[in-house]
Amino acid sequence: MVNNLLQGKRGIITGALDPSSIAWHVAEKVFAQGGRFVLTNAPLAMRMGKINELAAACQTEVVPADATSVEDLTLLFDRAQEVLGGKIDFILHSIGMSTNIRKAKPYEDLNYDWFMKSLDVSALSFHKMMHVADKSDALNEGASIVALSYIAAQRVFPDYTDMAQAKAVLESIARSFGQVLGTKKKVRVNTISQSPTMTTAGQGIGGFDAFFTYADKMSPLGNAPAEACADYCVALFSDLTRWVTMQNLFHDGGFSSVGISQPIVEALTPKE
Ligand SMILES: NC(=O)c1ccc[n+]([C@@H]2O[C@H](COP(=O)([O-])OP(=O)(O)OC[C@H]3O[C@@H](n4cnc5c(N)ncnc54)[C@H](O)[C@@H]3O)[C@@H](O)[C@H]2O)c1
Repeated sequence: MVNNLLQGKRGIITGALDPSSIAWHVAEKVFAQGGRFVLTNAPLAMRMGKINELAAACQTEVVPADATSVEDLTLLFDRAQEVLGGKIDFILHSIGMSTNIRKAKPYEDLNYDWFMKSLDVSALSFHKMMHVADKSDALNEGASIVALSYIAAQRVFPDYTDMAQAKAVLESIARSFGQVLGTKKKVRVNTISQSPTMTTAGQGIGGFDAFFTYADKMSPLGNAPAEACADYCVALFSDLTRWVTMQNLFHDGGFSSVGISQPIVEALTPKE
């Protein structure tokens, strides 16, 4: 195991709600690799989750911020630099929310106000974070920015409804802002397209258990767990990946390249 990959680096980690959150695992792994960061989440989530326990374990503080608010994000970047004592080297965007999914609205009957909210929370917030970071000159040369995505950006998963569009926008923002920040400051911007993962957001999706099992049976390596996604984030935040940018990187045990697998063939073959 390589150690101290992130020694001396300062960051912001969004989206850790409880120990099942992917961001929670990222915070633990980054801390173990010597990275220092502030945690942030929506003010409402601060009351529901356990983020303060994580902050204590990672010797840091939580800065509440609604990721749809440019004002909150401006205060977040100011406070993060104050707490950490310098500019930012890595950012994790691990934010997703759809009221249409929560209320089980079918795709052909979406509520459009909620649709706009899904896009704002789950995708435009990524643009807003980078906009604020750029405008306030908060990033160090060679910084690395990662957002978490899902393959529903490319393929249809019926119960994922408006989040499919949100993820497509998120991945597109990574490319467009990646060009801007790469040119200006050699900053990398990527999305990781993660396997279905048992988290609060994941399990809120209708039929989640079925497509978790389906993806697991389709993937030669099985579904990638949250801890492994955190390892991949560490690699992308580190100096070992300095020329990787504007990519959507599948972290899915091979799922995205498979047409059908033997376990699925066997499951669908009628028993004599
Ligand atoms: N769980 C999966 O199967 C899976 C698969 C691929 C990608 N992802 C993505 O991973 C990311 C993290 O999700 P997770 O599965 O760890 O679930 P999670 O519920 O633990 O994390 C989602 C986070 O978004 C935060 N959030 C919601 N609205 C916000 C706002 N307005 N401002 C700031 N934060 C806000 C929540 O408080 C929560 O901490 C999401 O982008 C999700 O789409 C999840």
